[in-house]
Amino acid sequence: YEKEVKLANWILTSRKTMVLTGAGMSTESNLPDFRSEKGWWKQIDPRTVATPEALYRNYSLFADFYAGRIEALTNTAPHGGHLILAALEEQGLIDGIATQNVDGLHKKAGNEKVYELHGSLDKIYCHDCGKQAAVHDLKQKSKCGCGGRLRPGVVLFGEMLPKETWTSALGEIETADLVLVIGTSLEVYPANQLHSMTKGRTVYINTEINEQAGDFDLCIEGKAKEILESLNDFLQDNSILD
Ligand code: NAD
Ligand code: APR
Repeated sequence: YEKEVKLANWILTSRKTMVLTGAGMSTESNLPDFRSEKGWWKQIDPRTVATPEALYRNYSLFADFYAGRIEALTNTAPHGGHLILAALEEQGLIDGIATQNVDGLHKKAGNEKVYELHGSLDKIYCHDCGKQAAVHDLKQKSKCGCGGRLRPGVVLFGEMLPKETWTSALGEIETADLVLVIGTSLEVYPANQLHSMTKGRTVYINTEINEQAGDFDLCIEGKAKEILESLNDFLQDNSILD
């Protein structure tokens, strides 16, 4: 556990700690990730569902894919790792979370400073006029009154990230002296650039540590929930401060 002890010390002595999470943070809440062997993009080509073109080319497949993911959210909850990150914000030990996840689990767990870089599944609106709609409208593949197609408020491939959210998250990370990156393959631009924007230390917590991990100060291979639980044990027992 010497890596978790080292990380606990870094957190306890850090002035500002930011967290960046990806889909690996939610697999222990039974939500699939995208690129590991059980991931979404192993079952379906992302270009057929996660692009604005897909919305026009095959609205039915697009609508089923997102309505299905939204429905899956109703019987899922934050796991122990999410709850620990909420407690750490409460204790002032972390300052915020920039997440690529669209499942809303960090907010559900109680974190206040959450930057949803890729938006969230909880809003449905018309792609053409922006009028709000409901999930069952999407499920029925209804069109908007203006004739436009419905979509969730997530950033599709090729779309820009929400400017305000991106700029705020970038500012927080640049001025952090510790950035924890948890459960992401670091395959997706520009979220995968964020951690390298900080002058502080960077830590990678992931089940697969590959060549992307080259430039981290510390890598802990394993599952987010387990690692956060052992890290939290050391944090709560402050005696480890050297
Ligand atoms: P692109 O949009 O096809 O992205 C290239 C690769 O990046 C894709 O193959 C995909 O793997 C990944 N990707 C990009 N956006 C994604 C998303 N929202 N969700 C999942 N995967 C995503 O090609 P591009 O035109 O080079 O632009 C890459 C992305 O960079 C754009 O989609 C845009 O979101 C983003 N971008 C944002 C900013 C900004 O917010 N400041 C600046 C430049 C580019
Ligand atoms: N604990 C730690 N790491 C995990 C766990 C876990 N329990 N489960 C999976 N992982 C790791 C996987 O090994 C993988 O490296 O998390 C990573 C998840 O990577 P991706 O599936 O690529 O998800 P992510 O990085 O969030 O994808 C970024 O791509 O399709 C887009 O917009 C979508 O936001 C998403 C973006």
